[in-house]
Amino acid sequence: MSQTANVKNTGLRGVTVADTRISYIDGEKGVLIYRGYRIEELAQKSSFLETAFLLLNGYLPDEEELREFTSKVSAERPLPAHVTDCLRKLPAKASPMDVLQASAPVLAMADPDLSLESREANILKAIRLIARVPAVVAAWHRIRNGLEPLPPDEDMAHANNFLWQLQGRRPDAEIARDLDVCLILHADHTFNASTFACREVVSTRAHMYAGVAAGIGALSGSLHGGANARVMKMLMELQGEKDIPSWVRGQLEQGQRIMGMGHAVYKTTDPRANILREMSGRLGKKLGEMKWNELSLQVEQAALAEFEKRGKTTLKPNVDFYSAPVYHMMGIPDDLMTPLFAISRIAGWCAHIIEEKFAEAQEKPALYRPDSEYVGNYCGLLGCTYEPLKGRKRETPG
Ligand SMILES: CC(C)(COP(=O)(O)OP(=O)(O)OC[C@H]1O[C@@H](n2cnc3c(N)ncnc32)[C@H](O)[C@@H]1OP(=O)(O)O)[C@@H](O)C(=O)NCCC(=O)NCCS
Repeated sequence: MSQTANVKNTGLRGVTVADTRISYIDGEKGVLIYRGYRIEELAQKSSFLETAFLLLNGYLPDEEELREFTSKVSAERPLPAHVTDCLRKLPAKASPMDVLQASAPVLAMADPDLSLESREANILKAIRLIARVPAVVAAWHRIRNGLEPLPPDEDMAHANNFLWQLQGRRPDAEIARDLDVCLILHADHTFNASTFACREVVSTRAHMYAGVAAGIGALSGSLHGGANARVMKMLMELQGEKDIPSWVRGQLEQGQRIMGMGHAVYKTTDPRANILREMSGRLGKKLGEMKWNELSLQVEQAALAEFEKRGKTTLKPNVDFYSAPVYHMMGIPDDLMTPLFAISRIAGWCAHIIEEKFAEAQEKPALYRPDSEYVGNYCGLLGCTYEPLKGRKRETPG
């Protein structure tokens, strides 16, 4: 039998499909590394834009390089008029992830370097995407609420500016720094579903925006980036619940999953969840609003106890679990939590797209083209007899 027989229908778990120099996970030890640097150290000392530079270029910038990169991002923030015009025509009830995905090709149409395929041109596209994905999310939120989009403030740092364009008030410095840390934490994560989608699309030599549109679609699912909003929905429903352990037990007995728990790669606590748990407690204290952190801690403890009883000791909180209360306390609407993930992951997606296009970690580019095993209707190599439509009997689908 071919080797594929051993890996089919496993969602490619445990199958190494490419080399990468961008990020590394040790799922047993709970370690995440970007370009050699531990996530804990980046969260403590770096900024999102510095981390984005690192992901795209493979090294930490010096002061001048960071200044230049920051000012390029800042200069690209204003949305081209046709992008805002398109947003105004969308139904106010549209899902923000659908709006964001639809915006990717609309942004492509405004990119003067779209048809250029040098590394430099792709870095410029990445800079535009890092600048404009948050601008689209903020503009859409205001438009759907009958408000005018706000122009960016070029003196503000990345996370500060996003909060300003979204909320229309100068953000608290500590909250903006915490949001920047959240952006660092979500910026890359090896070959997760959305990153793989981006790489797969650009392996056909499609442009960066086509890859990003696929990535946004993959991220929207509840088993991927959509989990943070589901965690918040769960916490909302649990307000006032007296017996959290029995609620958790009931969910598991009904075969439901506890959102924000478990991970395809981590078999221990996701290192990003540890940072976000601390942030959630600290933000709760600062804002005098401890209930979300307390509720999250209770759900975590109850879920871990139930998983333990069921022998599922590798199910632990992932990045989405504590990002939900954190974003909620920052005033991020629930349905913008997954777009916020995209605002960060755009840096990793672009780095992977560039790595894929220019075969930076392997010998030469390779078009993804896996095999499948046909298990459908088969009448031999000559094919089944085609009955003419007239007189054809209705078949029962089998
Ligand atoms: C992320 C996720 C898809 C990874 O799953 P995975 O490693 O591929 O494992 P599987 O989906 O095959 O699940 C393995 C087992 O653990 C159980 N499980 C996994 N996550 C669970 C959860 N959050 N709650 C309850 N049970 C869970 C599954 O039901 C399955 O049980 P079974 O073997 O009895 O059928 C999964 O943990 C999940 O659905 N989590 C909730 C969604 C979420 O938070 N996603 C964000 C990921 S960053």
